[in-house]
Amino acid sequence: MKVLHEGTITNQALHKKLPLRMKRLYLEDLPAIEAVQEAVIADLRDKTALHPLSTEEYLFILNERGLMVGAYAEDELIGFRALLIPEIDEEHLGYDIGLQEEELPKVIYQEISAVLPAYRGNRLQQKLADVIMNELPKLPGNFHYVACTVAPMNIPSLKDKFTQDMYIVALTQKYGSKERYVCVKDLEKPTLAYTESAAAKLDDFQRQHELLAAGYVGVNFQMKDGFHEIQFVKPTLS
Ligand SMILES: CC(C)(COP(=O)(O)OP(=O)(O)OC[C@H]1O[C@@H](n2cnc3c(N)ncnc32)[C@H](O)[C@@H]1OP(=O)(O)O)[C@@H](O)C(=O)NCCC(=O)NCCS
Repeated sequence: MKVLHEGTITNQALHKKLPLRMKRLYLEDLPAIEAVQEAVIADLRDKTALHPLSTEEYLFILNERGLMVGAYAEDELIGFRALLIPEIDEEHLGYDIGLQEEELPKVIYQEISAVLPAYRGNRLQQKLADVIMNELPKLPGNFHYVACTVAPMNIPSLKDKFTQDMYIVALTQKYGSKERYVCVKDLEKPTLAYTESAAAKLDDFQRQHELLAAGYVGVNFQMKDGFHEIQFVKPTLS
């Protein structure tokens, strides 16, 4: 099987460096994928922070409607990341982004990502992003936008999106009644031109809603008096 990335990774519990390899995941990897997901959920303090995928949803992704990349420390699967070609229904994130109907097939989702607790702190989610986005051209379709949802206060995940130049376009309820940011990146126009900027505290959802309604998008973090704020800009129309 083709190795997509090689390096080393630190197991934080054992204080030990181990060889790291990244590979595409396939149907036969499903038990290992679900074991990682279970271990990650068991460790979550706030269980609403992650929307776990069902076996059917993993099968849907692995059976041609997306792709997954896994990270291995020696022979153990320790983390993974998924891309999904979404079905076009009323829940499609393209509507939150403000896309026209004919643009919806051009949207690919960054789905779940997970890293076993002992291997956190290595920016593995971000490294998996680089590798999986390099695999994107291998999927059938002509993808112009990459979109995803992120739970508010999930700082590593927000950092991961901002590092990829994705930005927040909406804060809305998804998966029943869970608050989620909707993030996007226009792969053909990855740089935003803007004139005005503003900031909102990470937990000040009212101000964030106001800024988003006024046409601002969230592009980064900034630290103010020891607290994270989200930095917003108002893109100029191009
Ligand atoms: C989200 C997740 C995949 C990130 O794992 P990771 O790549 O190992 O992340 P790291 O621990 O290396 O942290 C990445 C960055 O976030 C920061 N960070 C992590 N946890 C943080 C916290 N609680 N508060 C503030 N910053 C935090 C790190 O300092 C690091 O910042 P840096 O890049 O500026 O150094 C992992 O935490 C996870 O599996 N969480 C549960 C599942 C989940 O929420 N998945 C995402 C939604 S699908």
